[in-house]
Amino acid sequence: KKILFAASESVPFIKTGGLADVVGSLPKYFDKKKYDVRVMLPKYLCMKEKWKDLLTYKLHFYMDLNWRRQYVGVLELKHEGITFYFIDNEYYFSGDKPYGNISSDIEKFAFFSKAVLSALPLLDFHPDIIHCHDWQTGLVPIYLDNFRYGNEYYQGIKTVMTIHNLKFQGVWDKKTVRDITGLPEYYFVPDKLEAYRDANYLKGGIVYADRVTTVSNSYAEEIKMPFYGEKLDGLMNARANCLSGIVNGIDYEEFNPATDSNIVRNYSVENFRKEKIKNKIALQKELGLEEDYHKLMIGVVSRLTDQKGFDLVDYVMDELCQDAIQLVVLGTGEERYENMFRHFAWKYPEKVSAQIYYSEPMSHKIYAACDAFLMPSLFEPCGLSQLMSLRYGTVPIVRETGGLKDTVEPYNEFEKTGTGFSFANYNAHEMLGAVRYAEQVYYDKKRDWNKIVERGMKKDFSWKNSAKLYEELYDNM
Ligand code: ADP
Ligand code: GLC
Repeated sequence: KKILFAASESVPFIKTGGLADVVGSLPKYFDKKKYDVRVMLPKYLCMKEKWKDLLTYKLHFYMDLNWRRQYVGVLELKHEGITFYFIDNEYYFSGDKPYGNISSDIEKFAFFSKAVLSALPLLDFHPDIIHCHDWQTGLVPIYLDNFRYGNEYYQGIKTVMTIHNLKFQGVWDKKTVRDITGLPEYYFVPDKLEAYRDANYLKGGIVYADRVTTVSNSYAEEIKMPFYGEKLDGLMNARANCLSGIVNGIDYEEFNPATDSNIVRNYSVENFRKEKIKNKIALQKELGLEEDYHKLMIGVVSRLTDQKGFDLVDYVMDELCQDAIQLVVLGTGEERYENMFRHFAWKYPEKVSAQIYYSEPMSHKIYAACDAFLMPSLFEPCGLSQLMSLRYGTVPIVRETGGLKDTVEPYNEFEKTGTGFSFANYNAHEMLGAVRYAEQVYYDKKRDWNKIVERGMKKDFSWKNSAKLYEELYDNM
């Protein structure tokens, strides 16, 4: 079977969040004898030079996007056994970030979606299935439907739409979207591309895809309800027969404490008790925190947005900082949260460190150095950071929602089970309660704590199992 991933970001080329981790790592884990999985991405000018230099020109053509005539270049790169295609157009993809304001992104990704389909007949690759990711590729199933009329090439192609985050839907006014996309009036009605009077890319993708998936079972259930449904819960219920959840994995080679070259001391489940701590001491030194290897160090590596639940942290930070803890934050995002963490780092310099930037090496250091990892999300389709933490023996403290609920098993002191700590309600003191429970186990029952770490490290959140589930999904289409 031939599968084409269409997406707006992928490691190692360009990343703003977990979507890139998924798109860049999942294709490697399919059974190569049965599945030829390739990936199509935009060629952003802001991609690292190192990668841009490696791309080879394949072909180009001109494509109409309604009244605009646009250049479409296709470049290619084989990376770790996977073929990546890059769609080139300097008018659309030359921003200093992959995404800009929504009005220009709407046109950018209409172009990308149409270009993906238009390039296919010119490539020596005829996919059986196009697997689309998030709203940026929501128009692919719609254009495909449109292209099918009178064009043999497109007739057998099926589509999967994977929702990584229902919050972002790609919404703009109908008239403009009609004008940009050149799609016929026929699609701009409430049972197709339209939602609440606007055009909605993700909705269109969900309506037209043959299968819809999301990145955990719990999130697949949650989005059928108004609280998580982002006003599309009705549609999710309508498509329930075709909707399923497949939990994300992470790249176990990339994220491996035994071989990671970003960290000062490598370790594994056999020797973490002695070795992991050296990463903590090194990080305390590097960040200017109090150098005390015994302190419970809590990490945060995250986009700093409302989704991630940091308003809860804001409410109880002063209380939390009375405890024997350290908090290390790495993240960027909304100014409100960036300044909040900066403020607490200023107020509690021995205890709190705010690293307000994006850095993969620093993220690895934090996963390796910390004892616990805090992720109190308001909603979380899957979440990868908690999986990375588990892999590095860093105990997740999470809110029981979406993928966090599916991947972190709460510690049970009576049965001696569990891989982390959790709380149910979106409430600051419930969160504080969970953190304090973790503190208590860490300080008073070190042996139990180490068992929690060990169980976490032994869990398998590689792609192995989930890639199989995607294979089954493809086979059943
Ligand atoms: P989301 O996709 O909602 O942002 P995930 O947990 O799925 O959340 O994925 C986040 C990914 O981005 C993880 O790989 C995490 O390590 C990484 N990440 C987030 N912020 C930063 C940062 N400031 N520096 C480095 N990596 C980051
Ligand atoms: C989204 C979600 C996150 C998920 C990631 C990859 O960004 O917010 O929960 O892990 O996509 O699927």
